Amino acid sequence: MHITTALTLLSTAATACAANCSPNSKSPFPLGELSKDQHTSKGRRYRVHLPKAYDPTKPAPLILSYHGAHGTIEKQAALDGLTDSGRNRDHVVVYLQALVPEGSDKTEWEVAPGAENTDDVGFTADVVAAIEDKLCIDSRRVYATGKSQGGGFVGQVLACDAKLSKTFAAFAPDTPKSKCEPETQVAIPCAGTKRKDTPIMAFHGGADETIPYRGTWRKKTNSCLPDIRHWARQWVVRDGLQGTETNTTIAGSKHGVRSAWRDERVVLVYDGDEVAHDWPSTGENSDNNGHAHAAFNASDDIMKWFPKWKLDN
Ligand SMILES: *[C@@H]1O[C@H](CO)[C@@H](O)[C@H](O)[C@H]1NC(C)=O
Ligand SMILES: *[C@@H]1O[C@H](CO)[C@@H](O)[C@H](O)[C@H]1NC(C)=O
Repeated sequence: MHITTALTLLSTAATACAANCSPNSKSPFPLGELSKDQHTSKGRRYRVHLPKAYDPTKPAPLILSYHGAHGTIEKQAALDGLTDSGRNRDHVVVYLQALVPEGSDKTEWEVAPGAENTDDVGFTADVVAAIEDKLCIDSRRVYATGKSQGGGFVGQVLACDAKLSKTFAAFAPDTPKSKCEPETQVAIPCAGTKRKDTPIMAFHGGADETIPYRGTWRKKTNSCLPDIRHWARQWVVRDGLQGTETNTTIAGSKHGVRSAWRDERVVLVYDGDEVAHDWPSTGENSDNNGHAHAAFNASDDIMKWFPKWKLDN
C-alpha cells in the first residue's frame, strides 16, 4: 500500500473482555523494555513494551505497530522508536509479526496479493484480547500504526473494519496502462466501516519510488496505484471534512507540507521532495541510510496526535 504510516483509532478489533485493572495484578512483562516473545493460541508471535510509568490501576492507551513487507518486530521497534521513554511515556506498545505466506519469500500482511489467507485481522483481535486480559488497558484508546505494507494493513483493513472488508483491493487491479488515472480513477472502497469520523494520519515522501506519491501504473500487477492526495481525500469525504483543509509548510524540508482537515481528524504529511520510502526521521534509521533524512520525526508527530482521539468523544 501507499502510505508510510497510517494511524487510526481502532473501533473494531477489540471485541475483548474488560481490562484487567487491579492493584494486585502483577505485570507479566518487564517495565521499560521489550518483552520476550509472546504467542497467541494460534502460534502467532508478538512482543510487548510496557512504559516505565505503567500503573496496573490506571487504564493505559495501547498502540499496535506493524512492520513493512520483509520486516520483523525488531526492525519495526527500532524504526518507530515508540519504546523510547522520551517520546512515549505512557502508551503500551505491541509489535506484531507477519507470516511468510505460501508461495511468498517474505513476511507479508493480509493486504498483500497472495496473503489473503493469513488472517492478520484475527491475529490482531487475538492480541488485543490477550493484552486486555493481562494488562490495564483503556479500550477507548487503542491505536495502530504501520510502515509501508503494515501501514496499508492499518489504513485499508483495520481502519475500514476488520471483519467486513478483507477482500477489496487498495489499488485498481486489471487496469491497462491507458486507463490508469491515479488522481481520479482509483476507487478506494472502505465498505466495512460504519464510522464517519475515523481519525487517520499518513506520511509520504516525494522521492518514494516504491509507492510513488503521484500514483503510477504498475506493470507487474497490471494495476493502477492511486495518487496519495486522492487516497487521503477519500478519507476526508468519508469523514465529511470537505472544505476544512489547512496547509502548514514543514520548516527545513523541500516543499514539505502538512495538510490537516478539521481538528486534525485527517492529516496527510507530504514529507518533502527528497524523502524516500522511509520512516521520516531526522536521524539515521534502517530505512533512510544513504538517503536524505526528513526534517522532522514522524514518531513525535504520531505521539502528539494519538492522545487527541478517544472512542465516543
Ligand atoms: C494544500 O496543499 C496541497 C498540496 O500542495 C494543495 O493541493 C491544496 O490545494 C492546498 N490546500 C489549501 C486549502 O490551500
Ligand atoms: C528526532 O529524534 C531524535 C531522537 O530520536 C532527536 O535527537 C532529534 O532531535 C529529533 N528531531 C527533532 C526535529 O525533534
